[in-house]
Amino acid sequence: MLLHLTKVLDNAKLANIREMLGKTRFVDGKHSAGMVAEQVKHNEEVQSGSQQAQYLDQLVMSSLAENADFRSGALPYRVAQPVFARYTKGMYYGDHIDDPVMGSGIEKFRTDLAVTLFLNDPSEYEGGELVLQSNFGEKRIKLAAGDAVLYPASSLHRIDEVTHGERLVAVTWIQSMVRDNEKRELLFGLDQARNDLLAQAPKNDTSKKVDHTYVNLVRMWSEL
Ligand code: NI
Repeated sequence: MLLHLTKVLDNAKLANIREMLGKTRFVDGKHSAGMVAEQVKHNEEVQSGSQQAQYLDQLVMSSLAENADFRSGALPYRVAQPVFARYTKGMYYGDHIDDPVMGSGIEKFRTDLAVTLFLNDPSEYEGGELVLQSNFGEKRIKLAAGDAVLYPASSLHRIDEVTHGERLVAVTWIQSMVRDNEKRELLFGLDQARNDLLAQAPKNDTSKKVDHTYVNLVRMWSEL
């Protein structure tokens, strides 16, 4: 599933994050890449662990958690600490697949889905598209500041070279309660129908049946 999440961050939060990032040190992004990805990764990232990074993490995590489409589309079980990345002129990230398992020690989790949250406006840079490969060809993605895209972490993807300006994003990964992409898509469609029915006719028997079926399908398919 490829899902465009609109207005994950409002203007006030965006301004807050941009101001924090302006004061934060970025380091070479290779430190967080796997062996293969390291060879094609050319960007900069905020070093995790600093007080600023923790504050930024919290802001992004809570904003994602508040987004109804994110909750319904991802059915998140575990969400990774976001990585804040910067691509200036000449930077890119060649074709790669994200690590299947992240975290350390007993805190490991499987990456079913990835999210890229756009932190600055497309007018502020040229190039820098997120390019996803699929059976239908390439999908080129560059969204408004505050919007995000949710996509399967298994997909081959790259970031095209930034030829002007600066691209700022936050990226994170999710282990879903429902591992299977097709099941998750079915649940997303059913959840939309359920929400429409519950809004239009909350006391109607059909609305209730669709609601109960959705809830019990999530129970049936969840693996925690
Ligand atoms: Ni990636």
